[in-house]
Amino acid sequence: MIPPIPVLSDYGISPAHGFLPDVLPLTRLPDPYYNKWEAISANLQNLILSKRLQGVVDRLPVLSTIGLEHDAEWRRAYMLLTFFAHGYIWGGDTPRERVPPSISVPLLEICRHLEVPPVSTYAASVLWNFKPLFIDEDIDDLDNLATLVTFTGSLDESWFYLVSVAIEARGGPIIPLMLTAVAAARAGDAATVTRCLRTFAERLDDLGALLHRMHESCDPGFFYKRIRTFLAGSKNMADAGLPRGVIWDDGTGKSDYVQYSGPSNAQSSLIQFFDLILGIEHRPTGEKADASSESEREGRARAPKNNFIREMRRYMPGPHARFLEDVASVANIREFVESYSGADRDLGIAYDACLSMLRAFRDIHIAIVTRYIILPSRETRARSRSPANTRQNLATASKNEQHKKVKGTGGTALIPFLKQARDETGEPAVEAWAKRFMTRQSRSTGQGDFFAGKPEQVEVVKEPVVEHGLAGIWTIDDDVGGICNY
Ligand code: HEM
Repeated sequence: MIPPIPVLSDYGISPAHGFLPDVLPLTRLPDPYYNKWEAISANLQNLILSKRLQGVVDRLPVLSTIGLEHDAEWRRAYMLLTFFAHGYIWGGDTPRERVPPSISVPLLEICRHLEVPPVSTYAASVLWNFKPLFIDEDIDDLDNLATLVTFTGSLDESWFYLVSVAIEARGGPIIPLMLTAVAAARAGDAATVTRCLRTFAERLDDLGALLHRMHESCDPGFFYKRIRTFLAGSKNMADAGLPRGVIWDDGTGKSDYVQYSGPSNAQSSLIQFFDLILGIEHRPTGEKADASSESEREGRARAPKNNFIREMRRYMPGPHARFLEDVASVANIREFVESYSGADRDLGIAYDACLSMLRAFRDIHIAIVTRYIILPSRETRARSRSPANTRQNLATASKNEQHKKVKGTGGTALIPFLKQARDETGEPAVEAWAKRFMTRQSRSTGQGDFFAGKPEQVEVVKEPVVEHGLAGIWTIDDDVGGICNY
């Protein structure tokens, strides 16, 4: 039996705004019982700045979840408590590995209710953390958005989250559009599938433009040093001072250490939806495409893959992750386009245009990661190796500097991982020219380009350096880098 096409309302997905909630995130929990949480939220940045958050959380009573009624209230409670938890863990001179019952008890219950893990996620920091500035204007306009909570109170941090909110909102209508395309493909209606793909490609172009606006108001140095610090999770964080992860202390004395990745845009269900609906396959990092037959590929595309992108689904709200699973079982656009190969050029061109736009989106993203992580990482290392700084660092090394310089604990190379995801995006192209264009080899080596500086300015490290991305731990190889190379 052919599986039914998923119905958005079954998964809490909005036809207008996709994975953003249909009901706008609440700016305050309505029940005054939660005034203490709201008071912390209103002063979060000052409490972090004065290093008083930990003391306040330690004295906070354990509140019950009994006063949380609608889902919007549960979502705000999750958002607040994860911000408090990350501020608590990372906001002092040394990281705290035990999160007290005042946060853990309600948070664990809220996580069970919302089907999310007890850690800040993309849902907490982006999907459920925004408001429109003007209620009569749309939320897909980046200039009509504000955040509800940040760690730093900076425009940079707000902008970092809001670019994603705008992308989610602008991309939301693609979801029902492409489910219509799936139904049309089932009915053999190539004209409708072509129309849907064309609109999809145009929207993807809009999303690339929005992503590019990251550069406007989020400073790379500030992102690298200040924002990323608070977003860190508890997985592979030994070098940062959490060798075993964290304990969500539920007061029973039985709580054990757990490890979770921090929030990352790789947890965006929207981008994973694009991949699934277009039949793009992401292999484990380093695994090359092979030349197996089409029938083998069909089977493989549906088989679960153990890779980072898939792993990130564990961090999505349960219904969103389930939606992706169900979409995977009905995705038929790639097979449909291939079955018309050569016979309907408009269809093939429209499909390839989507791949090309999504590939371009990933190119913009690689340039962002280079500017926001790779280059600041190099600068920090170059500075810390200068003789004056070596002396100073020995005396005053901060926890951040220590964890940024650590080498040798392993991890996947960041830029090759992102480049592989980008290259896989172009692989299903059907038109010969598009196939050639999207699979051409890009230069992957080179130093001393305009953006990265000359080799003598940036000291070359032969050993790869381990760096915290957002959700992942990655190696950064100095032989690969510079935005010009991608
Ligand atoms: C300053 C801005 C950004 C930085 C520094 C950044 C950094 C990263 C890093 C380090 C990764 C690797 C996984 C990890 O460790 O989390 C990643 C993956 C990813 N990011 Fe970003 N990111 C940024 C903005 C965005 C935005 C706005 C989007 C789109 C909504 C996005 C979409 C993705 C996706 C989909 C992946 C998974 C890899 C892929 O599918 O190509 N990122 N990002």
